[in-house]
Amino acid sequence: MTDVLRDEARADVLSVQGLTVTVRDKTLVADVDLTVGPGERVGLIGESGSGKSLTALSIIGLLPEDVHAAGSVRLAGVSHELLGADERQMSRVRGSSLAMVFQEPMTALNPTMRVGDQVAEAMLIHHTVSGRRAGRVAAAELLDRVGLPGTSRSYPHQLSGGQRQRVVVALALANDPALLICDEPTTALDVTVQAMILDLIMKGVAARSSALLFITHDLAVVATVCQRVLVMYGGRVVESGPVAEIFTNPRHRYTQGLLAASDLESAEGRLPTIPGNVPAAGQFPSGCVFRTRCSFATDTCASSPPWEGTADHGFACHHPAPSLEPAHA
Ligand SMILES: Nc1ncnc2c1ncn2[C@@H]1O[C@H](COP(=O)(O)OP(=O)(O)O)[C@@H](O)[C@H]1O
Ligand code: SF4
Ligand SMILES: [Mg+2]
Repeated sequence: MTDVLRDEARADVLSVQGLTVTVRDKTLVADVDLTVGPGERVGLIGESGSGKSLTALSIIGLLPEDVHAAGSVRLAGVSHELLGADERQMSRVRGSSLAMVFQEPMTALNPTMRVGDQVAEAMLIHHTVSGRRAGRVAAAELLDRVGLPGTSRSYPHQLSGGQRQRVVVALALANDPALLICDEPTTALDVTVQAMILDLIMKGVAARSSALLFITHDLAVVATVCQRVLVMYGGRVVESGPVAEIFTNPRHRYTQGLLAASDLESAEGRLPTIPGNVPAAGQFPSGCVFRTRCSFATDTCASSPPWEGTADHGFACHHPAPSLEPAHA
């Protein structure tokens, strides 16, 4: 392999730097850095209102009109900056190199079009197949592979919620995207269906070597799906690292509280839960955004905590939980 090829192989699929999202005078997301490597599965967690969806919508260029994103979003294989790209450029990227699965499948489906035609159209637009007949055959095959044999001629309303989300996953994977973003893809579904959709997503990205950015508030899901995780609160990334490390050795007091409040740790009952609610957008305190709810807060927390830790596991907290040293014999 030449050096150039080796660099290409290492290069991140997604690189977000200094992402800040504002609406009028309110800052909703501040200074988010985030990378996803080739084939890597990265989770984004945090309570509702932390800025997870706005981060995803900024990346894929689907923010509402009055909401503005600044910073940098780069995708491997795309020569231009995604932030500020015009709609013509973004529609070329969306659905080909970059695809997204939303919480509610109907937002991604056309209610008046047969699902097979929708999948075929996605492939035709991005030239993954040539010609209508090839498109129909490829769409039927893909629907078959996502567990929906013989549904090509169905309309979305003729399918269950779980089946519709399968169609959306098929649509998202139709052009072998370099990056798939999933925003709470199973939250609206029955518990019995959730595991099957997760399995479909995992197998789909593995078969295509696609990278995955997976947004959820469900820590058990993150533990199943992701290798690395970023914890968001108040529009900021407060901690990031390998899933196993974050779950067993959280350093930021918010992460610690989040784990305590989840089913994963509650049985042990050792850690405090998070008091109070997530403030409304623009109502977070200055300095550490978590200080109005943190039982470890001191006057120092009125200033912004610097990012520290290791290259692998970083966090921004003035009074972090003690690091658990690996046990030595
Ligand atoms: N279009 C908008 N205008 C004003 N505030 C918004 C808009 N969209 C989202 N917000 C606010 O931004 C914050 C983060 O939202 P969001 O990214 O959806 O959070 P999450 O996905 O983590 O639940 C929330 O407080 C939300 O109310
Ligand atoms: S910086 Fe202070 S307020 Fe923020 S999480 Fe750490 S201890 Fe709590
Ligand atoms: Mg959301």
